[in-house]
Amino acid sequence: MKQELTAVRLDIRTATKQEILAAIRQKAKKLEKSGRICMTKQYCQHGDCSVFEHCANVAYVSCMLFRQMHIDADFDALITGALLHDYFLYDWHNRQTCHPAHAVYHPTLALHNARKDYQLTPKEEDIILHHMFPLTVLPPKSREAWMVCLADKLCAMTETFGKVWVRQ
Ligand SMILES: [Fe+2]
Ligand SMILES: [Fe+2]
Repeated sequence: MKQELTAVRLDIRTATKQEILAAIRQKAKKLEKSGRICMTKQYCQHGDCSVFEHCANVAYVSCMLFRQMHIDADFDALITGALLHDYFLYDWHNRQTCHPAHAVYHPTLALHNARKDYQLTPKEEDIILHHMFPLTVLPPKSREAWMVCLADKLCAMTETFGKVWVRQ
């Protein structure tokens, strides 16, 4: 049964790094209760970073970029969408389990899987579906989805260099 997710409350003007990390961990715990997000802990994303850690990193970097720029955002949707943006639930390094067009196809699959397990808002769906822009034809519609799209690329690079902000 799909579970309503408790909203994360963050005042980004005053939130500390620890409060942002705590909000991400709190949301991840909620997602663990009703879905398959624990599966993402067993799959590698970049370097020695799991898919779960990568998604948490993207949530953290997205929040920090908004904080740095003094731009307000819907942090509840931002963190939920970021945590689920790579919810494709297979090992993309394994040719036998990986979809042949993984780079283009996985946002659609992630959204399909996430809709099965969670009640998502349109903004959360936008974040998941458009995070691979410009590989996806349509661009993000919200500032939160644009930020996850950017943070995803930054994290892919920093994780490959061994920098991981959130460990599982
Ligand atoms: Fe992705
Ligand atoms: Fe990603």
